[in-house]
Amino acid sequence: MAISKVGVVGCGLMGGGIAQVVAQAGYATTVVEADQALLDRGLGGIRRSLDGLVDKGRLAPDERDRVRGRLAGTVRLDDLAEVDLVIEAITENPVIKKETFARLDRICPAHALLASNTSSCTITELATATKRPAQVLGLHFFNPAPVMKLVEVIRTILTGDPAFKTAWGFVQSLGKTPVAVQDTTGFVVNRLLVPYLLEAIRLLESGVASKEDIDQAMKLGCGYPMGPFTLLDLVGLDTTLYVAEVMFQEFREARFAPPPLLRRMVLAGHLGKKSGKGFYDHSPR
Ligand code: CAA
Repeated sequence: MAISKVGVVGCGLMGGGIAQVVAQAGYATTVVEADQALLDRGLGGIRRSLDGLVDKGRLAPDERDRVRGRLAGTVRLDDLAEVDLVIEAITENPVIKKETFARLDRICPAHALLASNTSSCTITELATATKRPAQVLGLHFFNPAPVMKLVEVIRTILTGDPAFKTAWGFVQSLGKTPVAVQDTTGFVVNRLLVPYLLEAIRLLESGVASKEDIDQAMKLGCGYPMGPFTLLDLVGLDTTLYVAEVMFQEFREARFAPPPLLRRMVLAGHLGKKSGKGFYDHSPR
């Protein structure tokens, strides 16, 4: 199936990055947000990101203008009545996601694929909210989406081969590398990454080393681009806590249990870069 029109639902950190990538790859892209203020903020973020690429000489100004021309914003889900693919990137709430998938199923053309960028919800559950489970899958991008090369393409036991092949080709057309993953909580990356991040917090809690030294150790000792505490601040402590809780509920294994410090930092509003403070200070200087 040929994809030419794409809808992205949610224009936050992930949705905005995904919409930018999709529009840059040449697709007519419609972004949906819950209200005008959120939409303006999301589209403003994409514009700034594209301007940044122009400033660095990575994108020609006329190509930037063409990308912007391919991006439309709306607050009405009904405006996705003609898309070939939807990528949902709204809040990690399974009830709201299921409702959104049921609405998308009623609005989108019969041939359209419905994908979720969820990192914690079960794709099978989203598929059963629709009458087209064979066309529902996961497309899991990584933060920052314009930079990170990987997309996990998640299939459920209900996903059809044609939908999977189309999604795989679509990811490649974005200049990203797909990996095939079965619908299991955490997929591949978070199954490995979350226990690692939680263990770093436990190391800090037990006084083994400072956060700066733990970060330095993993950067220089393992060649990771950033240490676990810098990454926790980038991903968001609330997001990490939520994903860990869902994984703990699913597997009941201690390695997924959120450490007390993580819970307390989230309660205190120390969410990472997005709130200006996490393990490090990100307040504007
Ligand atoms: N948006 C767009 N571009 C960004 C960006 C952002 N948020 N952050 C950095 N970049 C760009 C920079 O502009 C820079 O571009 P140029 O090369 O054109 O100058 C490039 O990325 C490299 O950035 P920096 O030089 O500032 O710093 P860096 O070399 O350390 O790279 C990084 C930054 C790409 C974020 C790198 O540190 C990295 O790969 N970190 C690990 C990120 C990671 O693990 N992400 C996965 C998180 S888990 C997740 O997302 C899944 C989930 O479900 C929770």
